[in-house]
Amino acid sequence: MKRSSVAKLLKSDTFQQDVKIKGWVRTFRSNRFIALNDGSTINNIQCVVDFENFDETLLKRVTTGAAIQIKGTLVESQGKGQNIEIQVTDLKILGDSDPEIYPIQPKQHSLEFLRENAHLRVRTNTFAAVMRVRSTLSYAIHKYFTDNGFYNVHTPIITGSDAEGAGEMFTVTTLDLNKLPKGEDGKINFKEDFFGKNTNLTVSGQLEAETFAMALSKVYTFGPTFRAENSNTSRHLAEFWMIEPEVAFNDLMDNMDLAEDFIKYVIKYAMENCVDDLAFLEQRLIQEDKSKPQQQRSEMNLLDKLNFVLENNFKRVSYTEAIDILKNSTPNKKKKFQYIINEWGADLQSEHERFLVEQHFKCPVILFDYPAKIKAFYMRLNDDGKTVRAMDVLFPGIGEIVGGSQREERYDILKAKMEANHIDENELWWYLDTRKFGTAVHSGFGLGFERLVQFVTGMGNIRDVIPFPRTPQNAEF
Ligand code: 4AD
Repeated sequence: MKRSSVAKLLKSDTFQQDVKIKGWVRTFRSNRFIALNDGSTINNIQCVVDFENFDETLLKRVTTGAAIQIKGTLVESQGKGQNIEIQVTDLKILGDSDPEIYPIQPKQHSLEFLRENAHLRVRTNTFAAVMRVRSTLSYAIHKYFTDNGFYNVHTPIITGSDAEGAGEMFTVTTLDLNKLPKGEDGKINFKEDFFGKNTNLTVSGQLEAETFAMALSKVYTFGPTFRAENSNTSRHLAEFWMIEPEVAFNDLMDNMDLAEDFIKYVIKYAMENCVDDLAFLEQRLIQEDKSKPQQQRSEMNLLDKLNFVLENNFKRVSYTEAIDILKNSTPNKKKKFQYIINEWGADLQSEHERFLVEQHFKCPVILFDYPAKIKAFYMRLNDDGKTVRAMDVLFPGIGEIVGGSQREERYDILKAKMEANHIDENELWWYLDTRKFGTAVHSGFGLGFERLVQFVTGMGNIRDVIPFPRTPQNAEF
């Protein structure tokens, strides 16, 4: 007999059929009711054991966390809480789990405790739900782009360049760190390294994606990116996944349209395809809110918040307008912001972004036309000579979820900006080449995948939406 999944059986209405399932015991009540889960759905299937027909020592091994196989008959449930159940005819222990030491007990565990047990936390309802939503969102992203004529590019993970120019890179080397070869200038001689040059893990696939957009028109990358920024926040990881579309002939406004349409599509897809998981996560947040003081509670339930994003246009606001709003805002005047906004040119901190989204506009916001000084070298310079065609999409509870721009397609201006930013032309000669041969207006953006998963699942900490988080001082598992 072939094994069925719990998800499939729970949808079945063919009673009296013989079935076989395998999964992990969640609970075993009254020596009679096994709640079994195989991860195919958040819901458990109830398996009813007639204990007189089974050996007592066998039943003792049906403990929380044990892997078991059950054969039986699918019947209409006699009890409340489920429509169907399995009358067990055969029970086999596949893998024991000692209840004295198994960390995941059928009770509420703190998220901190579960982070320390990240190899087991996916066996809880919360993490299994989050990871199924994550998987569904990943599929929706590939589907959106494929359905809209984009090609997927696998950009390299090891690179010699710093796409963002922020110097937050992890070095990749095979040199003996205890015996580093030095040149006459006293600096490390990377010619002796594996690649014959200094290399690092990529911070973004954008620059390589741009070269592909100049041939395939519409492309995207979706891969891991690495940043050695020492930010211990609930929104930063040292290793995270980024989706980066890049489109030839798109200007900044087209870029905004794409970002908005894309984000709405993937959220809607998750809402339609993760109904049980999102309903569970919503309830989880409602419970969590009860333990918080009134002013810290969410104004909207999870599904209302997701619907709100789908139903409203993202507000498009220039950086200059935003600075005026922030300068005149109550928290700025009353010095409630940690970083007071005094003048045009200030970099926005997450407290400012959240004020704009959560208090002022009360909807997702796209900020655009930032000062050139606070943005990366590749963004297109505006005619005013001081702002660039940058855009950030800001979300409630998250802050920046997307960063993107129209790219500087003019060779001379790009070259001058690279020089001004001390970017070695010899490193990025190939990038400059795209502006030499058939250059064209083009735009793209990067969506932080984990920040999207955070938004859709309502999880407060980014460490809880990636299987094994990498953060400063932490690379366990
Ligand atoms: O704004 P960023 O740095 O943009 C780029 O890397 C561009 N090259 C993208 C492009 O235009 N193709 O990063 C893009 C997004 C941010 O908006 C944020 O959502 C996410 O990546 N992000 C992080 N997510 C988690 N942890 C970090 N340390 C992150 N840094 C950026």
